[in-house]
Amino acid sequence: MLLSVQNVCKNFGSVSAVKSVTFDVEQGAMIGIIGRSGAGKSTFLRMINRLVDASSGRILFKGRNILAYQGAEMRRWQANCAMIFQQFNLVPRMDVVSNVLHGTLNRRSTLATAFNLFPRADIEKAIELLERLGIEEQATKRVEALSGGQQQRVAIARALMQDPEMVLADEPIASLDPMNAQLVMDALRQIHDQDGRTVICNLHTLDTARRYCDRVIGMSQGQVVFDGPPAALTTAVAREIYGADESFSEEATSTEIREQVEDVPAPSAQPKAPAEPVKTVD
Ligand SMILES: Nc1ncnc2c1ncn2[C@@H]1O[C@H](COP(=O)(O)OP(=O)(O)O)[C@@H](O)[C@H]1O
Ligand SMILES: [Mg+2]
Repeated sequence: MLLSVQNVCKNFGSVSAVKSVTFDVEQGAMIGIIGRSGAGKSTFLRMINRLVDASSGRILFKGRNILAYQGAEMRRWQANCAMIFQQFNLVPRMDVVSNVLHGTLNRRSTLATAFNLFPRADIEKAIELLERLGIEEQATKRVEALSGGQQQRVAIARALMQDPEMVLADEPIASLDPMNAQLVMDALRQIHDQDGRTVICNLHTLDTARRYCDRVIGMSQGQVVFDGPPAALTTAVAREIYGADESFSEEATSTEIREQVEDVPAPSAQPKAPAEPVKTVD
């Protein structure tokens, strides 16, 4: 077993955000966690990545309790279960390649970081990742000039720079139009299929989980209320997960593509002078 989540709870004061969650994850799984807003999905992923401390319980990765890790060991763990966020969490004014190279920060010296010096091998790897994700033409642009879908693929490239065994994605497509949402989900599926990485992805829409994930975990009010293959997810179960009444329909949570949407920069992005080029050390 790769990951074993055992009775994990998280309380924020009197709010019980995650209530005794227990499940096992096989190596190479692609899992979608679904549920309405406030169900505890983000808190749960953040506990795995140690961005939030669990109140109780254990999370074993290859038999070791990652909740006990501290210092350098914890940072190594955080790199090994790279996180992708809804809002990308990139540095907007910095160029794409430098953002991707930030995925190596935890193994670079402070001095090299201060002078923006990157080993040539790392730069080559970053560009290979951008090629793989179909955004190599954006490599020298500032991130803020890219569309949301392109930015999220930059974030995936940055995560892959760490060569993580697991990728945790918290609503990676919630800010994207349907066309870009599909490109980003395709990229996550690709790093699962081709690299054998284990992917756990929070999604608030059911159809995306059905289409891309082999296993779906439904959360409601901090608890797991469904855990199984997409085929077992009936409308009745979906109603329980979303806490909806008889009027609930899957279309209500749909992200299906209805029309062609061009992959153009977000309207807020201003054309800017080229960003500072990346310097290299050999
Ligand atoms: N930092 C926090 N402080 C207080 N309450 C929080 C915090 N983060 C989340 N919560 C609460 O925990 C519950 C679960 O939130 P969250 O994990 O963000 O759910 P989801 O990602 O499924 O929308 C909600 O009631 C939310 O208000
Ligand atoms: Mg959330």
